[in-house]
Amino acid sequence: MSDGPPKDALQLSRDEMLAFGHEIVAIIVAHVESLREKPVVRKMDRLSLESRLREPLPERGVDVGTVIRQLQQDVFSNIMHNDHPRCFAFIPGPGNFVSVMADALASGFNVIAADWLDASGPSEVELVTVDWLRQLCALPESAGGLFVSGGSMANLISLRTARHVMLREKTAGAVVYCSDQTHSSVERALQVLGFETTQLRKLPSDDLFRLSVTCLKQEVTADRAAGKVPFCVIANAGTTNTGAVDPLIEAAELCKQEGLWLHVDGAYGAPAVLCEKGRSLLRGLQLADSLSLDPHKWLFQPFEIGCVLIRDVHLLKEAFAIRPEYLKDLESTAEEINFCDYGIQLSRSFRALKLWMSLKVFGLEAFREAVARGFVLAEFAETLLRASPHWEIVTAASMGIVTFRFVQERGSQHDLDQVNQRIVDEIFKEGFATVSSTRLRGRKVLRLCTINPRTTEDDIRQTVYRMEHFARLACG
Ligand SMILES: Cc1ncc(COP(=O)(O)O)c(C=O)c1O
Repeated sequence: MSDGPPKDALQLSRDEMLAFGHEIVAIIVAHVESLREKPVVRKMDRLSLESRLREPLPERGVDVGTVIRQLQQDVFSNIMHNDHPRCFAFIPGPGNFVSVMADALASGFNVIAADWLDASGPSEVELVTVDWLRQLCALPESAGGLFVSGGSMANLISLRTARHVMLREKTAGAVVYCSDQTHSSVERALQVLGFETTQLRKLPSDDLFRLSVTCLKQEVTADRAAGKVPFCVIANAGTTNTGAVDPLIEAAELCKQEGLWLHVDGAYGAPAVLCEKGRSLLRGLQLADSLSLDPHKWLFQPFEIGCVLIRDVHLLKEAFAIRPEYLKDLESTAEEINFCDYGIQLSRSFRALKLWMSLKVFGLEAFREAVARGFVLAEFAETLLRASPHWEIVTAASMGIVTFRFVQERGSQHDLDQVNQRIVDEIFKEGFATVSSTRLRGRKVLRLCTINPRTTEDDIRQTVYRMEHFARLACG
């Protein structure tokens, strides 16, 4: 780029900015339009990437077109497209273009959504948007929260609040309970909060991979008898492995009787309340003391946006607010919310914007249908797999996840595990679709997570066909 304002002020001219901006938008639009034709995943080895991207710190700038070309060739060509209609691995992240532009706006206006002085308008948008999620989850008006980076951070903030409220930081002998299907971010959050591994009871899940409340009750009683301090139960509103929903009403009743904090991890599953099937499966969600919910999963937002909701939002502030002298000028009235007092980040981006904008542009009705489609697609996949003698359904479609396994009469369990692993390895290598594996009751199983509303029945049919092809190759 030439002429324009001096580069030592890190500025571009108006024309340069417009040309640059148009080019970037054109690249994104071309990407969105051609996504279906691209491989879902492409991974390059470290050595090759080092040879392409390792270079000395650039003392002098180069033409922006050169940088964009390098980015396209070596960086964006080596990623997994979590928003690809045939991405069924892990928990996909099917974003939307309105939110992509919202992220650009949030960055363009360089909003620091920390406090009312810095961002009264954005803070109000965050208050409104968090409250929309509260209403969807039917939590009481006393509930509130904030947007964070994702489910891991939402779990950390929730558990820190629980520790503060229930233990006043006296963690010795304290015990937390969850099922063995709970996401590892819970364990990590407890480690960060200074709990020993032995303070987390991972209880064996029932036949449907749900928390057993009978077992939970026994453990709490036994722990109390042994002089321990039970203080928190973590229930799942959709497990990552199988989409199982823990018995939320029974867990909440037990927590009430025993005086325990109920944290519900709905990072991937909670948005299912939007549709009828999900609402019925998630009965009791509204009884949570704290709830994690990731808009960057089943609310179709680009990464990163998670949400924490706390039943009594004042407790969140009690657990987190610290006001040093150099921030005294941020002091606000009770109505003026400083989000930096409700979590870990001081400087924080305007994450609420993308969810707010996309909900306004598409309307809740479109989101409701998009969520409902996730259920339909998983049920379609289950029917298809059941129709073939090669596949055994391990867990029926639940909350957009179905797990299954390739089976044959010959061969040991170990051989079958290996065949199933080979299927996943080859699927990833080919890149036409992605499917991930997990272990359930000692057996290697495959799982499809079908929460992308742009997935077609034919995408699933072709993916199953590819899996059968790789199974045949693996069996020799
Ligand atoms: C149930 C559950 N909890 C927590 C997480 C962690 O969320 P994040 O990756 O946004 O930190 C996940 C991620 O898949 C999840 O499925």
